[in-house]
Amino acid sequence: MLFLKKQVIDALRTVEDPDLKQDLVTLGMIQDLGVNQKQVTFTLVLTTPACPLQEILKKACIEAIYAKVAADLEITIQLDTQVTSTRTHDPVLPQVKNIIAIASGKGGVGKSTVAVNVAVALAKCGAQVGLLDADIFGPSIPTMLGCEQEKPQVMHQAGKNYLVPLEKHGIKLLSMGLLAPADEAMVWRGPMASKALRQLLGDTFWGVLDYLLIDLPPGTSDIHLTLVQAVPVTGAVIVTTPQKIALVDATKALEMFQKQGIDVPILGVVENMAYFTAPELPNSKYYLFGQEGGKEFAAQHKLPFLGQIPLVQRIREGGDAGIPVVLQENAGAFDNIAAALAQQVAIRNARLAPTQTVERTR
Ligand SMILES: Nc1ncnc2c1ncn2[C@@H]1O[C@H](COP(=O)(O)OP(=O)(O)OP(=O)(O)O)[C@@H](O)[C@H]1O
Ligand SMILES: [Mg+2]
Repeated sequence: MLFLKKQVIDALRTVEDPDLKQDLVTLGMIQDLGVNQKQVTFTLVLTTPACPLQEILKKACIEAIYAKVAADLEITIQLDTQVTSTRTHDPVLPQVKNIIAIASGKGGVGKSTVAVNVAVALAKCGAQVGLLDADIFGPSIPTMLGCEQEKPQVMHQAGKNYLVPLEKHGIKLLSMGLLAPADEAMVWRGPMASKALRQLLGDTFWGVLDYLLIDLPPGTSDIHLTLVQAVPVTGAVIVTTPQKIALVDATKALEMFQKQGIDVPILGVVENMAYFTAPELPNSKYYLFGQEGGKEFAAQHKLPFLGQIPLVQRIREGGDAGIPVVLQENAGAFDNIAAALAQQVAIRNARLAPTQTVERTR
């Protein structure tokens, strides 16, 4: 039996995780391996909840065992997902495995739309997901998730009050828009906004999360600086349209995260409003804002390209109605971007050191 077990392990050593470029045994992805006569059982522990990869790896394991051990074995594989983390050193939110900032330079390019739909897409795959609307002066997440009228509860624990995030479409969410009336928050000075963000992070009962997405305001503001000072940020996603002026601004956002002393890894670029297709001409693409500007931007800066999202009326309608389009059928673009993002998070966690919080100098 021991010999058979060793043979199975050796066979599985020939299967590589396509993202991490190492074999499954070395990566610790094979757990609870048991062999009994002709029966082989084990758990395949994946680092992303992305659905298509699970089946590919499972098939590769079975094929490797058949080819290298014996073709008459009965193989049972359990699938499990354990999203990795490099954030265990964070005293503020140690149970949040990954914090992902969604940023852009230019306003209105679709950060909030991407944040909402990607968050819901990850939750659809079984991940535990939170979404924090850090756009203190112009929060749009409550509208996009249809909960403008709801108020988060306050929970008392160990002598301290915590906000309890709302839960919608399988994700936890919190927004300044749920706490302060818009006209009140609008006149806050920078330090008040920063304090509010710190509360939304640290004084909130987020619990255990695989991913906490932070929807940032446009540009590079005090809020961005507060975020990187308050918690170690796993990485940032840059959203842009293919348009030249959006790309110029995207470069500024990129440079902010990459600046020495901030050093937040860029997980990838999303090109939104990439093209329009008229319903009566389904095979034609109209490049209203230019063609492939986001893709080229990613290539130029050697960043992962997470994908394109077309300009689609349903996306805007979903945002306005509070029902994210990713909940409808054929919402492929966001599902694929969510999978690509989860993949980049796993790669980042395997290859790069934990992010450190930025020293407060002012
Ligand atoms: N791919 C798309 N197709 C159709 N409409 C879209 C698309 N992406 C975003 N929109 C719409 O464009 C508007 C702006 O999008 P969104 O609010 O997500 O941008 P933003 O970058 O978060 O803006 P801000 O900088 O103000 O925070 C919204 O009304 C949204 O519904
Ligand atoms: Mg927004």
